[in-house]
Amino acid sequence: MTISCNTPQGSYEITIRRGALEDAGALFNLKRKVLVVTDGGVPSRYAETILRQCDKGYKYTFPAGEGSKTLATWQEILSMMLQNGFSRRDAIVAVGGGVAGDIAGFAAASYMRGVDFCNIPTTLLSQLDSSVGGKTGVNFEGIKNIVGAFKQPGAVIIDPDCLDTLPERLVHEGLAEAIKIAATSDAAFFEMLEECDDLRGSYESIIKRAVELKRDVVEADTFESGRRKILNFGHTIGHAIEAAAEGSLFHGEAVAAGMMYMCSPNMIPRLSRLLRKYKLPTTDPFDEETLMEKVAFDKKGSGGSIDCIYVPAPGKAEIVRMSLPQIRECISKLKTSV
Ligand SMILES: NC(=O)c1ccc[n+]([C@@H]2O[C@H](COP(=O)([O-])OP(=O)(O)OC[C@H]3O[C@@H](n4cnc5c(N)ncnc54)[C@H](O)[C@@H]3O)[C@@H](O)[C@H]2O)c1
Repeated sequence: MTISCNTPQGSYEITIRRGALEDAGALFNLKRKVLVVTDGGVPSRYAETILRQCDKGYKYTFPAGEGSKTLATWQEILSMMLQNGFSRRDAIVAVGGGVAGDIAGFAAASYMRGVDFCNIPTTLLSQLDSSVGGKTGVNFEGIKNIVGAFKQPGAVIIDPDCLDTLPERLVHEGLAEAIKIAATSDAAFFEMLEECDDLRGSYESIIKRAVELKRDVVEADTFESGRRKILNFGHTIGHAIEAAAEGSLFHGEAVAAGMMYMCSPNMIPRLSRLLRKYKLPTTDPFDEETLMEKVAFDKKGSGGSIDCIYVPAPGKAEIVRMSLPQIRECISKLKTSV
């Protein structure tokens, strides 16, 4: 199936199909110089499948993990393109998770002021979330995604078969993003996730619905001046949990626990049941002080109040401007109710 995404920066097709990797060349022009960017943890056969279809394929592999999402990696990609005579008509293809997509996309946005970019996401998180929307970038001086660019891809190719090699914990982390967008935007999708009893068999329909919803949000607000903020549901306190956990929780797991603080009393039991179903945390072990310290650190410079996303019922989201004391109250309410 194909989903179109139309933004002020350009339009592209998102293809979701088992086996799509095999005919990537029919979906994106590989008959030119192509740099495939991947990481050492992605099974190499995925990148090889793409390289086989290229006229002049090159491969850049960086060490897996968030630690590689740096200007140094970005610079190495640009150097490799320059050394191999890449022109503005050539292209970059990311094969991997959100880290590969974000760095490769940023290199594509900046090399010669922009070359074609194809995103081939291979984690569930990147298939149903990060590959759509055009945000690219790297971490800098300890701050996530602080340097980057909006760069829409020329094509996104999603092959759910890639998920067969993905560790279960990463599958569940991806589902946290599906739950997040369902909770804020689509009650029927939320119910579908509640009722799903064959996860693997449902990959395509879950990815399709999540991508459509994210596409709708991105089309309405490409540069995140308003509606796109709903994608940050769970993030205000989720980031604080992630920082306090010092690496023991994945981002999606921290956001899962963070969502619980920003729901109505009626929504909490449903969200909590759904998170537990997919082995995601519904609570965190940190006290109010620790979390507030991290929230305040994250939000310094925001003038003392923060746009938080509040979900009163499945499929509904409100952008609520909250002061730090109001956020503290959300934390203490949930902590004292469980
Ligand atoms: N651009 C956006 O809009 C956006 C949105 C959300 C998240 N992100 C970014 O995405 C990143 C997280 O992405 P992620 O969770 O995909 O992490 P990741 O890219 O680090 O991938 C996670 C791990 O899975 C491995 N892997 C990838 N595909 C695999 C496969 N098919 N089989 C086995 N192993 C595989 C990788 O080697 C890596 O070790 C973060 O940097 C985050 O900032 C970006």
